[in-house]
Amino acid sequence: MTDMTSPAGTGPAFAVEMRDVSKVFGETTVLDRISFDIRPGEFVTFLGPSGCGKTTSLRILAGFEQATSGDVRINGQSVSDMPPWHRDIGIVFQSYALFPYMTARDNVGFGLKMRRVPKAEMAKRVEEALKLVGLSGLGDRYPRQLSGGQRQRVALARALVIKPQLLLLDEPLSNLDAKLRNEMRYELKRIQRESGITTVFVTHDQEEAFSLSDRIVLMSKGEIKQAGTSREIWEKPRTGFVADFIGVDNLLPGAVEKDGDELVVRISPSVTLKTEICDFAPGSAVLVAVRAKDVILNPVADETATGLNVFAGNIIDVEYRGERCACRVRCEGIDQTLVALVASSHVPSGAVTLSFASDAVMVLTDDR
Ligand SMILES: Nc1ncnc2c1ncn2[C@@H]1O[C@H](COP(=O)(O)OP(=O)(O)OP(=O)(O)O)[C@@H](O)[C@H]1O
Ligand SMILES: [Mg+2]
Repeated sequence: MTDMTSPAGTGPAFAVEMRDVSKVFGETTVLDRISFDIRPGEFVTFLGPSGCGKTTSLRILAGFEQATSGDVRINGQSVSDMPPWHRDIGIVFQSYALFPYMTARDNVGFGLKMRRVPKAEMAKRVEEALKLVGLSGLGDRYPRQLSGGQRQRVALARALVIKPQLLLLDEPLSNLDAKLRNEMRYELKRIQRESGITTVFVTHDQEEAFSLSDRIVLMSKGEIKQAGTSREIWEKPRTGFVADFIGVDNLLPGAVEKDGDELVVRISPSVTLKTEICDFAPGSAVLVAVRAKDVILNPVADETATGLNVFAGNIIDVEYRGERCACRVRCEGIDQTLVALVASSHVPSGAVTLSFASDAVMVLTDDR
């Protein structure tokens, strides 16, 4: 296919294309017809739980693993037969994979040496890269003399220093403490924006994915569940799995019913929920998702409270979450407890009334 390029000399339209890529190990399908494109300069994150196929996808892009079927293109060129060292890729492995017998400095400089970059320039670029990741002064140490977080940063510097056309990062911040992780996140984003290197980042941490990415590819069991910007995924999770993974607190299994002209979701023999949008036919089994922030907690028991999506209940637990607290409430007629957020300065107790607007009720497929 030669029609994948953009008009007149602007280069390929996509830096990376994966078409129906599958990977089978023995009997197990680890990737099941994955398809997506990455535009030049984009920061894309593969997000998903452990074992969903993130590292395998990255290894296929890097050329360390062959797809069982499907096509992978980098800069418009099919790479099925191209070995890793011809792909101009910087990679940070989940396990860092530093050379143990080389100092941090030599590890970082390795790719430049292979590319026969002159010594003086090499030394300069290596020091810059070490500085960038906050390791100035530690260049003479061997990996065994560095902490896990420091090794991770050497690996990051080693990938960045060659200024590759594609940067693949497999959980590169996982071993850093919270403060350093935030700093490195910011640095990584800045470096990526400034250099314009197309980047594929892997993490199972949704907060990290949301804060860094132009686009997120959310995976589960070798399939893409949803791909979109952080905002798109946050505001409109497409399935129950997505809602669950991004941390929507209230997930209630139910069935769609007709109530006059409207569709409602029955979540128990005595309770139905009103919703604005329901794309399912009556009788469908669904999952209702309501964010804790959308649940209004009235700190008084209102016995007269009627109407849809209004429930009398009792607070049974309070979880401190910083500025806010999550109150877990047992409501009449609902098996599961519901979670509502309140300001930590005013945490109620005992009998309360919960309510939420019908447009806060998301009706989704239950694919968890
Ligand atoms: N060489 C292999 N042989 C057999 N199974 C494999 C092999 N490599 C990976 N797998 C399996 O493929 C699945 C996906 O693995 P992968 O490493 O891609 O997951 P991951 O999303 O990166 O998970 P994690 O977040 O734990 O790193 C897992 O079930 C894993 O056990
Ligand atoms: Mg992995």
